[in-house]
Amino acid sequence: MLINKVVDLLEPMLDLPRVEIEAMVEVPPRPEMGDLAFPCFTLAKTMRKAPAVISAELAASLTSPELRAEAAGPYINFYFERTNMASAMLTRLADPQFGKLQVGAGKKMVIDMSSPNIAKPFGIGHLRSTVIGAALYRMYEEAGYTAESVNHLGDWGTQFGKQIAAYKRWGEDARLAKEPIKESLRLYVKFHDEEENDPSLGTEARAWFKKLEQGDEEAVSLWKYFVDISMQEFNRMYDRLGVKFDHVLGESYYIDQTDNTVTKLKQSGLLTESDEAMVVRLDEEGMPPCLIIKKDGTTIYPTRDLTTAYYRHEVMKADEVLYVVGAEQKLHFQQVFAVLAKMGEKWSEHFIHVPFGLMKFEGRKMSTRRGKVVFLEEVLDEAVERAAQIINEKNPNLQNAAEVAEQVGLGAIVFGDLKNHRLNEVDFSLEEALSFEGETGPYVQYTHARIQSLLSKANTNTDEEIEETSKSAADEHSDQVQISDAAWAVMKHLSRYPEQLERGVRLKEPSVLARYVIDLAQLYNRFYHQEKILGSPKNEQTYKLKLSEIVGQRIKGILGLLGVQTPERM
Ligand code: ARG
Repeated sequence: MLINKVVDLLEPMLDLPRVEIEAMVEVPPRPEMGDLAFPCFTLAKTMRKAPAVISAELAASLTSPELRAEAAGPYINFYFERTNMASAMLTRLADPQFGKLQVGAGKKMVIDMSSPNIAKPFGIGHLRSTVIGAALYRMYEEAGYTAESVNHLGDWGTQFGKQIAAYKRWGEDARLAKEPIKESLRLYVKFHDEEENDPSLGTEARAWFKKLEQGDEEAVSLWKYFVDISMQEFNRMYDRLGVKFDHVLGESYYIDQTDNTVTKLKQSGLLTESDEAMVVRLDEEGMPPCLIIKKDGTTIYPTRDLTTAYYRHEVMKADEVLYVVGAEQKLHFQQVFAVLAKMGEKWSEHFIHVPFGLMKFEGRKMSTRRGKVVFLEEVLDEAVERAAQIINEKNPNLQNAAEVAEQVGLGAIVFGDLKNHRLNEVDFSLEEALSFEGETGPYVQYTHARIQSLLSKANTNTDEEIEETSKSAADEHSDQVQISDAAWAVMKHLSRYPEQLERGVRLKEPSVLARYVIDLAQLYNRFYHQEKILGSPKNEQTYKLKLSEIVGQRIKGILGLLGVQTPERM
C-alpha cells in the first residue's frame, strides 16, 4: 500500500520496470530514517553519476501531498504525511478484501498432511504435520488457490500382519474396546519384544499380511477394525483442532493401482533386480536405489507413493502437491521424485516435500517401538487444564471459562508450534507456550480480547454521551488529526500484511504470519499503553477506535488462518 505510492512517484523518473523498483524499496532500520527508503547504488552505473548525486537530484524533484522525499547520502528516505493519509489508509485497511491475494487463481494445490499411522498413537510429529498443513491450506486459499487436503493414512504394510498376529495371540477385546490405541500399541510393542526369541511370530505376521493382501475375510475385517478404532481417536483430535480433510485416502486406497505403476516402470526400462528385490537405480542422482517390490513380492512405501503421485496428477488434477512430512523422510521423497523425473513426468516438478524439524515435548521424544510415547491427547488436556488455572486466577468471573480454556490451551500449542521456522527442532515447553506475556498464542489472543472489551466499552460510552457530545460530531469528519508515532507504527505494520501473506505462501512457512501477528500485537499494546484512547478528543478517539478495531480484525483473521481461535473475553 505505502510502497505503491513510492513506486508511483519513482516510476516516471527511472528507466526501470515497476517490479524492479518495488524490489529495491527498503524498510529503514529505524523510524527516524523514514517510513521507506530507496537506495541509489545500482543506478550509478547506468546513470553515470555517484549514488549520492542521484539521490539528491531525485529527492529534489519528487513532490507529493502524501509524502516527503529527503536525500540521505546514497539513499532517498520517504516520510509519509500521516495526517493527510490517515483517513484513506484506515478505510483501505478496514476493507475485508485487503490482504486477499490472487497469486494462486486457477491453481489447484493438493496438501498431503497429518497422515498418521493406523494402530499407533497420534504423536507429536503428526501434530506438526496437521498444524502446519492446515495453516498452509488456509493460507493458500487466502492467496486465491483452490486447496485440497488429503489425509494419507498409513493404513497398509507388513505391520498390519504383525498387528493381527499379535491380536490373535494376546488380544483382549475388553481392553481394546476401552482403550483402543493403548491396547493396539501394547500388542505392537509386545510383538517386537517377543519376536526376538520367537521367530515363528514373524512367520505368522507375514502369513497374515499375505492373507490381507489376498482379501481373506478374517484378515480384512480385523484390519478394518483397527482402522476404525484409530480413526475414531484421530477424529476426536481433528475436531478439537478444527481440522477438516477434503479427502481421507490412506495407502490402502492405492493397492489395486500399484500393478499399473510397476508396469509403467518396467516399460520404461527402469526396473532392475537387486538381491531378489526390484528396484530403480538412482546412481546418477547420487542416491541409493529406490525399492519397488520386496523379496517376498509385496509392494512398499515408495511404490505406494509413486502410485499416489499418479493419482494426484491424473485424477485429482493437482497443479501442485505439498507433502507436509517430517524432515527425516527427506530421502524417501527425493527418491520418489527422482523416479518420476526419470520416467519423464514433467508435472512431478511441482510435487514438493515441505519438511519440518523434530519436536520434543518437554524433553520427551517419541519412539513407538519401545512404547515410550507422548500421547497427543494427554498433551492437549494438560494444556487446557493449565490454561483453565491461569484464566481462573486472572479472571475468576469469566462466564464461559471452560470454553475459553479450551481455546487458549489449544491456541498455546498450535501457535507455539507455528511460530517456529518449520525446519527448526523444537523442544516444546507448555509453561512458555501458555504465558500471557511472551511471544505466545495466549498473548496475541489476549490482545484481541483487550480490543474487544475496549470497543464494547466505547459503544456503551457513546450511547450515553451521544447527546452531550453531538456538537463535536462535525469534527469526526475532519481528517486533520495528529497521528502519533505509536499509532503510525501500527498503521504501517498493518499495511504490510499482504506482502507478508505472499511471503508466507511463497516460502510455505506459517511462521511468517505468526511472527507478523506477534509484532502487530506488540506494536498495538505499545500504542494502547502510551495513549489515551477512550476520553481523548472526539475525532482522535474515533480514529483510535477505528485503528483498534482493524487490529482486532487482523489478529482474528491471522489467528484463524493459523488455526487458533479468538475468544471475545479472557
Ligand atoms: N504415514 C507416514 C508416517 O507417519 C506419513 C505419510 C506422509 N505422506 C506420504 N505421501 N508419504 O511416517
